[in-house]
Amino acid sequence: MSLLEVRDLEVRHGLLQAVRGVSFALEEGDTLALVGANGAGKSTLLRAIAGGHRPSRGQIVFGDRDIIRLPAYKRVALGMGLVPEGRHLFPSLTVEENLVVAERPGYWTLDGVLEAFPMLAPRRKSRAAVLSGGERQATAIGRALMTNPRLLLLDEVSLGLAPVAVEDLYRSLRTVIERGATVLLVEQDLGRAMALCQRVACMLEGRLVLEGHSGELTREQVTEAYFGLRRAGIEVGSREGSQ
Ligand SMILES: Nc1ncnc2c1ncn2[C@@H]1O[C@H](COP(=O)(O)OP(=O)(O)O)[C@@H](O)[C@H]1O
Ligand SMILES: [Mg+2]
Repeated sequence: MSLLEVRDLEVRHGLLQAVRGVSFALEEGDTLALVGANGAGKSTLLRAIAGGHRPSRGQIVFGDRDIIRLPAYKRVALGMGLVPEGRHLFPSLTVEENLVVAERPGYWTLDGVLEAFPMLAPRRKSRAAVLSGGERQATAIGRALMTNPRLLLLDEVSLGLAPVAVEDLYRSLRTVIERGATVLLVEQDLGRAMALCQRVACMLEGRLVLEGHSGELTREQVTEAYFGLRRAGIEVGSREGSQ
């Protein structure tokens, strides 16, 4: 049984259909990079999975439960950890306090997070308000890990960050994945996304137009799907059909 199964999901913003009939599954330990141009519907899909936006059609099954009607906080309790775009931290709390307030029992502890994100260790007593963008992102990911999620949902990890900060964050994310995390990562940087995640899925105008194993898709195929140049000759929607 899959950890997450999204079936024929449709999400609207008023009249706009931001997500159109999206289906995919994630197994425990899977890492999937969701790529696509600005406005493709990636954040809307992630928010719908996390419970921040109610779909107008479709199913979301997490573990063995249909969670479509569950509010976001109950999905957190079931093991969903969302790191939203914009990294909402408590600015007046320190890094350590931001991490500890999220703590739920499990593999990830304060020490484990500080070890996986070494850039945070010297900053643990600093208030979040004074952190660099990279440090804020690291704290936000660390905070999601502190909830010991079964699924980590990451939106735009590298957006607006200096290359050296992105480098550090991806090194830390590799550590997190090596420790067994299941990850759904939204990322604009194709190269990084494909290097980090086993699978890649591309959204175009609300639909999943390409999905497959990172090692089996070429950068050109993904780029074409990303910009909608060609449907890349690959059917999506089921993993069998995506090879
Ligand atoms: N809160 C909102 N209200 C209205 N339209 C929205 C809202 N959020 C996103 N949209 C629209 O939905 C579409 C998908 O947006 P989004 O999910 O943010 O895409 P992405 O994350 O891939 O850039 C876009 O056309 C965007 O303008
Ligand atoms: Mg987005």
